[in-house]
Amino acid sequence: MPAISLQHVSKKYRVYRRPSDKLLELLTLKRRSFHESFWALRDISLQVEPGRTVGVIGANGSGKSTLLQLVAGILRPTEGVLSVQGKVAALLELGAGFNPNFTGRENVYMNASILGLQKSEVDERFATIEDFASIGEFIEQPVKTYSSGMFMRLAFAVAINVDPEVLLVDEALSVGDIVFQHRCMHRIDQLRRAGKTILFVSHDLQAVTRFCDRTVLLDHGRIVEEGEPYAVVQKYLEIFFERERRKKHLPGDDLPVVGRIDPSITVVNTIPHMDSRFGNGKARVHGILVLDGQHQVLNQVRADDIITVRISARFEEFVEHPIIGFTLRDHLHVEISSTNTSYERVKLPPANAGDYVTVDFRVTLPRMRPGSYSISPAVASGSIWEHDICDWIDNAYILTLLDTGLVYGMWKLEVEASYRITR
Ligand SMILES: Nc1ncnc2c1ncn2[C@@H]1O[C@H](COP(=O)(O)OP(=O)(O)O)[C@@H](O)[C@H]1O
Ligand SMILES: [Mg+2]
Repeated sequence: MPAISLQHVSKKYRVYRRPSDKLLELLTLKRRSFHESFWALRDISLQVEPGRTVGVIGANGSGKSTLLQLVAGILRPTEGVLSVQGKVAALLELGAGFNPNFTGRENVYMNASILGLQKSEVDERFATIEDFASIGEFIEQPVKTYSSGMFMRLAFAVAINVDPEVLLVDEALSVGDIVFQHRCMHRIDQLRRAGKTILFVSHDLQAVTRFCDRTVLLDHGRIVEEGEPYAVVQKYLEIFFERERRKKHLPGDDLPVVGRIDPSITVVNTIPHMDSRFGNGKARVHGILVLDGQHQVLNQVRADDIITVRISARFEEFVEHPIIGFTLRDHLHVEISSTNTSYERVKLPPANAGDYVTVDFRVTLPRMRPGSYSISPAVASGSIWEHDICDWIDNAYILTLLDTGLVYGMWKLEVEASYRITR
């Protein structure tokens, strides 16, 4: 039996133009309606098997929080059938079930008992919860004196430490400080490994790709894509990336231009690999190669090697401000780093239909963990803050980084350690 099951679930909100309209409607004993209907979710069917982690992504307002509140039982579906098996703990935007007049300690006991814990079980866990929340003396103060950050810490500390069978995580997580976020992610990962069912809303697409077994993409209240997280994240990027980026126009793209034309650079025309591709087609990635200092093609590299990533693009139309760049990812699709001509302050001249533009990126490889890495080349038009993707090819080039010594984590920091003994 699925842990979470939604069949054709829809959720309608009533939207009143003015607060007084709600009163008017009550005065007419609802014989006249003064509201408009807004369908936040439409015909959602979703099954989550026990022990699975399912990611939910989508733009603001696409219905993610509404979905979680339905599963949490805070909202009722307007249409459709919903069922959840097992004890549910939710990390939602509102610290569900907290009473503002009681102290943090009292709320922990109440909240945990709502979530099905005996008093003795809460006694056992209290120290862990208190420790997790780290709000110090405030634990003995009424919750109404808390900052929103403290409120959230305590709510999360309870939810995450009551051994839920089903855990719902809304992106509220991102409002905490970094240390707390890490602590939460670590705990969520433990629960995931312990076989709990998790519904995970996040705008951290890397976390979604890494943690989730499956991902659902919501758009305007409907599921528009569902499946393997990486593919769904790509779809999301394809649809929303540019939309989002346009909103955050930042200064700083008019930095001085460096870089030069190098006649020894030749057009490359091989694309060894292609996982997916998107873009408006005004230009196409024509080829990508990785070369060493002797112009030899490289598939295997070592830390500290100096390599050249050469990317050629062919322009199908006039593009006034071309940008060429790439993203380096590890085998888990985690982005290690990205760069492009605009970012490196190389201003490419306007390109005409039929032009080939080839760029060399000379890179000194950091001491990354040995293993396989991929390069995804892209060509775009605009500035680094605002541009359209003309062509993006995922994982076009695979590089193997040979083992040149132990690396803890993603890469070896440049460290000098010193010591002193004091007796
Ligand atoms: N209580 C509510 N009354 C009316 N509209 C709401 C209410 N809650 C959310 N909405 C609307 O429903 C849509 C989906 O909201 P939400 O589920 O919060 O989206 P997300 O979490 O993806 O940003 C939004 O357009 C939002 O304005
Ligand atoms: Mg939300």
